[in-house]
Amino acid sequence: MIDNTIVMNALKEVKYPGFSRDIVSFGIVHSIQINDDQIEVNLVLKSQDTSVGDKIKDAVQTFLESKYPENKVKVGLEMQQPQQTKSAQNSETVKYLPSVKYKIAVASGKGGVGKSTVAVNLAVALAKMGVKVGLLDADIYGPSIPLMFGIKDKPYYDGEKIHPMDAYGVKIMSLGFLVDNDDAVIWRGPLVSRALQQLMNDVKWPALEIMLFDMPPGTGDAQLTLSQSIALDGAVIVSTPQDVALLDAVKGVKMFRKVNVPILGIVENMSYFVCPHCGQRTDIFSYGGVAKECEKHDTKLLGEIPIDAEIRAGGDAGRPIVESNPDSPQTKAFLEIAENIRNTIFK
Ligand SMILES: Nc1ncnc2c1ncn2[C@@H]1O[C@H](COP(=O)(O)OP(=O)(O)O)[C@@H](O)[C@H]1O
Ligand SMILES: [Mg+2]
Repeated sequence: MIDNTIVMNALKEVKYPGFSRDIVSFGIVHSIQINDDQIEVNLVLKSQDTSVGDKIKDAVQTFLESKYPENKVKVGLEMQQPQQTKSAQNSETVKYLPSVKYKIAVASGKGGVGKSTVAVNLAVALAKMGVKVGLLDADIYGPSIPLMFGIKDKPYYDGEKIHPMDAYGVKIMSLGFLVDNDDAVIWRGPLVSRALQQLMNDVKWPALEIMLFDMPPGTGDAQLTLSQSIALDGAVIVSTPQDVALLDAVKGVKMFRKVNVPILGIVENMSYFVCPHCGQRTDIFSYGGVAKECEKHDTKLLGEIPIDAEIRAGGDAGRPIVESNPDSPQTKAFLEIAENIRNTIFK
């Protein structure tokens, strides 16, 4: 005898198009009814993209028909407009960044794992690939994007909006342009979300295909609220292969899933060391840890970046390595990840 639970469990085999995650964990299966020999499944999808809805509906229909050939299968689909995020300040309904197609967080459980370095190089890599890309420094406590792009000027304010900066083909905004670094550290709760809202609303963002968010490190309430209020379309987690960093990366994966943000995958940074003199490779931390965790938590390893003096120097000098040494193997690693991300998003 089949019942709702059995069918629900079976539906975990159906993946969301383009993701390794299943439709049940995305919360798309709204209800299941079984009457005599008929299985009726109702799907609710919060998306504007009807083609995804149709794909999932067909996949469910085909899957159930082959799994339960004795039964009649009826699949209903309701498309809902994605919920608009509410401003934490005044509970007005705000639609953030209407000119941006995909809002992707670059996040890490821990600070210092190279999140900003990865965000910056990925942004430049995407720009090189011809993607219209923006980078919003949401790490209000330690905005490092201005430094990493070598931007010392202040953005232009036209009396109504602040114009984003532009470097290496990337549109950039950071609180670091607007306040001194030391001031940013003392900000708390409501001020932080207000500041972030301003970086989204009061900036003249052009039409962009992808906006990367350099998120503040950690997986606490602040990050959770932030992820919800931005209404992210996906998250890239950065981790080093050390166990401690990995534990925090997994916390990050869980946090984003809690608020229904699809995990695009994990980047293993400072993955291994290649001696610039003899070319010999050394695995400083236990290499491969990230790949194992990815498998365990049903997500993808997006790529591996070596620990490398030139990558660090590029960050300090304000010229990301993807820009300064485009033919290096390090740049190739970033380009591959960017390619991976683009292919996952624009499936
Ligand atoms: N792959 C790498 N190889 C060498 N140094 C790196 C690498 N990734 C990051 N770093 C360096 O590590 C430090 C921390 O990186 P950062 O991107 O600021 O981390 P986070 O944003 O996670 O705090 C910086 O000095 C940066 O240049
Ligand atoms: Mg950082």
